[in-house]
Amino acid sequence: MTSPVTCEYSDGIAVVTIDNPPVNATGQGVRSGLLEIVGKIDSDPRVRAVVLRCAGRTFAAGADIGELGKPPLPPFLPTVVEAIENARPPWVAAIHGSALGGGLELCLACTARIADPNAKLGLPEVTLGTIPGAGGTVRLPRLIPLPDAVEMITGGKPVSGARALSLGLINVLSENDLVAEATALAASLAGKPKPPVLLDRPCRNAEDIDWSETEKMLAARARGAAAPLEALEAMKDSARLSSHEALSRERERFLRMTASEQAAALRYAFFSERQAGRSLTSINCEPANLDLVGVVGGGTMGAGIATALLLSGSAVRLLERDAEAARTAHNRVADMIQTSRARGVISRQGADEALARLVTTNDDKALISCALVIEAVFEDMRVKGEVFSRLDAIMPRRAVLATNTSYLDVDHLSAMTADPTRVLGLHFFAPAHVMKLLEVVRGKKTGDRTLATGAALARRLKKIAVVSGVCQGFIGNRIMSVYRRECHRMLLEGALPDQIDAAMRDFGFPMGIFEVQDLSGLDIAWAQRKAAAPSEDSAEPAMRIADRLCELGRLGRKTKKGWYDYGAGEKRVDPVVTLLIEQERAKAAGAARMFSRDEIMRRILRVMQLEGQLILDEGIAECASDIDVVMLTGYGFPRHRGGPMFMGTSEGHSLRGPRPR
Ligand code: NAI
Repeated sequence: MTSPVTCEYSDGIAVVTIDNPPVNATGQGVRSGLLEIVGKIDSDPRVRAVVLRCAGRTFAAGADIGELGKPPLPPFLPTVVEAIENARPPWVAAIHGSALGGGLELCLACTARIADPNAKLGLPEVTLGTIPGAGGTVRLPRLIPLPDAVEMITGGKPVSGARALSLGLINVLSENDLVAEATALAASLAGKPKPPVLLDRPCRNAEDIDWSETEKMLAARARGAAAPLEALEAMKDSARLSSHEALSRERERFLRMTASEQAAALRYAFFSERQAGRSLTSINCEPANLDLVGVVGGGTMGAGIATALLLSGSAVRLLERDAEAARTAHNRVADMIQTSRARGVISRQGADEALARLVTTNDDKALISCALVIEAVFEDMRVKGEVFSRLDAIMPRRAVLATNTSYLDVDHLSAMTADPTRVLGLHFFAPAHVMKLLEVVRGKKTGDRTLATGAALARRLKKIAVVSGVCQGFIGNRIMSVYRRECHRMLLEGALPDQIDAAMRDFGFPMGIFEVQDLSGLDIAWAQRKAAAPSEDSAEPAMRIADRLCELGRLGRKTKKGWYDYGAGEKRVDPVVTLLIEQERAKAAGAARMFSRDEIMRRILRVMQLEGQLILDEGIAECASDIDVVMLTGYGFPRHRGGPMFMGTSEGHSLRGPRPR
């Protein structure tokens, strides 16, 4: 077998190349190849300096993730890193693409680093439930200030080339030809005494960190994920112990964390996201051109979808009901683009150009040149039906028509058009220009070109596409409806909203279900319940409490009262709501009993899993991991737990058994 690591020599400079597609992962072949070459170079007196580079689109972007769940194979990365660090000639890392995890740890062993301005450098191990395992926690704070190293390692977010330069993580930003400049840098170091290796230096700016504040902040941010706090402990070791002692503790922690349940769940989440929407990639069909896209309805969702499209480089025609509504929609999009600029997603010039690509109008003929139109009008079949009939009449045959409906029947809508093969659902999540998930809803008659267009849109917007069949609420909202109902049932049995919310937050959700309802407003679900069960008798008793809140005008945060009282600026438990719950409980003739947080979460998980299983049995989702991806990326299910379906299989929660009524 040929080695993924090769070496070329010229004028006393060795250029070592890692070529291990697709991302030059530091797998066993790369580790042994590197170790062998370090040895060869060390014993070759002609070599005065070394450049370490990677072939293809990126520097080494991390460990071979397939190896992570298994016993590690020698040689181990720390051995390779140590060999480079102690090599006779200076090594220079030439970084393009991403230098992540083990990739960056190799760079830290080098005498100097040069990077392309577009490079990303980071230690993202915490996102996979572990910590750096080859000296990252020890060497990084000896190269850049400790507080920045703590941020990079506990947060897992990579930094740009420019930021790396300002931190001192790299010595030079490449201007033009990375390898030529790296070679020149290596030549300039040749023959000079090597500076002390990082392990022999003290941590930088160690006095600038407040450990207990950092720990408090991290614990709040981690919501039960163990790796960020373990990474912080490793950083404390790094600051307080000798570097050799810190190294051995880091390795022990890395091995323990890599074998943890959370790490297994996070690896599963990583793989599940990568394989989500797989069936879309096998469609052999040219998608519609997405350079100009139409959006109908410029409210919360339409404006968010338009913003996402504009940020991706598309031009957008946004149709509203009248000129006034069109102006409001324009301002809404402008605000969203401004916030994206403030978040650093786009430059000032990019923001100006994006907004210049937007046309808002109340003339539907403006849509005619769009190859795709996405409808995001009110959630009302009559209104959407009119929009679809009109679009069908004016849009050219090849144009693809999509609906962003949350619950309505996509097949019913497509039946209102002459050619249902060109209709699909594209279910975005709010805010549509931020949230990563896109449910691509395949109607019974949706054609391949239409689906391929949905897939191309997801790629263009950098979203994770999950395919869903047609049912009420598709994958995500359908599961959310059942667990919301289960939470309402627990109210009738004796639990209170703040207990249920606390149990969910404890589990790792950013918010509990009642807090979420208050945030998004109780009126939409109320209207839906009234439409689905117009008489009192046919209504679900558990939902009576929510109905009564709505009847009292308590629609959530927007009316300052909902499940909680927000009158004083902060969320407070409201005795009025407690009383109302007790009254409904008395009518339901159930004796109130105590619920533990554990029981609350078991009930929620169980209905999620049962509904997920039905969704699979009915062929709505293509695989169980797609359901998990939807819950993780669209509904705040804690990533370190993998998802309800993952927990169902890994913890032995039964997916069978009677379905709660
Ligand atoms: P919204 O009420 O904020 O916006 C709807 C917009 O559509 C309004 O600006 C209205 O003027 C416009 N509109 C109504 N009829 C129109 C017509 N015939 N022609 C042109 N414009 C028209 O509603 P929102 O929240 O943006 O929801 C839109 C759709 O997206 C609904 O189907 C909803 O179920 C779905 N959705 C909503 C999510 C959310 O979190 N709000 C999430 C995912 C989907």
